[in-house]
Amino acid sequence: MAGNDFSFQTFSKNEFYGNLNARLIDMADLASDRKIVDLACGTGGVTRLILERINQTKDTVVIALDHSSTALKTAMHDLKDISNNAVKYVQLGVENVSDAVKDSVDAIVFCNAIHYLPDKDAVVADICNTLKPGGKFVFNTSFYEGGQHEDSTAFYSKWMFKAMKILRRKYGLSPVRSEKVQSRQQLTPKDYEDLLNRNGLEVFKQEVDTVPVPVEGWLDISTFSDFIEGTMPGVPMDKASLSLQEAVKETYSELGVSHVPRNWLDIVAVKK
Ligand SMILES: C[S@@+](CC[C@H](N)C(=O)[O-])C[C@H]1O[C@@H](n2cnc3c(N)ncnc32)[C@H](O)[C@@H]1O
Repeated sequence: MAGNDFSFQTFSKNEFYGNLNARLIDMADLASDRKIVDLACGTGGVTRLILERINQTKDTVVIALDHSSTALKTAMHDLKDISNNAVKYVQLGVENVSDAVKDSVDAIVFCNAIHYLPDKDAVVADICNTLKPGGKFVFNTSFYEGGQHEDSTAFYSKWMFKAMKILRRKYGLSPVRSEKVQSRQQLTPKDYEDLLNRNGLEVFKQEVDTVPVPVEGWLDISTFSDFIEGTMPGVPMDKASLSLQEAVKETYSELGVSHVPRNWLDIVAVKK
């Protein structure tokens, strides 16, 4: 089965996902920036998008930072063809970005991970301190208040109902609610704007990108540990993953749809 290690890599290879991140990076206009940090770079998909868009000179550096050594190893391997020694890999929590970056930088990119942070103020303040005056903080997330598109309500309830039924019928299991990952607070776009303002930044561009997600996207997100733990807490990964996958295929076929929309919030902020 693809995604046997329950990592994010399988999902991250989806074309629609690369495209939505590319739209954010294009919005940020990084071409003339010299020093850029890719926070929570994962397996390097966004790092590649950055490298493809900057004019590499001998003083260009992209700092790719993530707390996962496995993700960084994959990134190093996958970016060999393009990195041209411009990438510095750092294994560290985003909470400590200023420790990793000695001189201030032109831009900090943080894709699909800001929603994980319990203390967003501390991290955003540190990001601001790490930027040059006028420097850019560029991020996106689909896990915000508004990420679920209004036309997708029937899809989610049908999918989850079916997945739980399959889990019970095939494996005699149910999620253990007490083991639910402490639910991450989802911020509204206005909350994000306030968060930035409180910490020395202001919104320069903001968009909601509505993305039609094919069934492959949901099948692949069903092989990612964070998603599985969030939807089926306490259930063994393999059984939860298989139930989610079977259920989403049935749901697409019953609803007769080829895509289900999902919103991504895209923000480019600048240091005041
Ligand atoms: C959903 S992936 C996103 C990867 C990439 N930025 C992208 O947009 O495709 C989330 C990444 O955030 C990393 N991550 C989560 N919390 C982190 C933290 N506190 N410090 C550093 N990395 C973190 C994970 O290891 C994972 O690689």
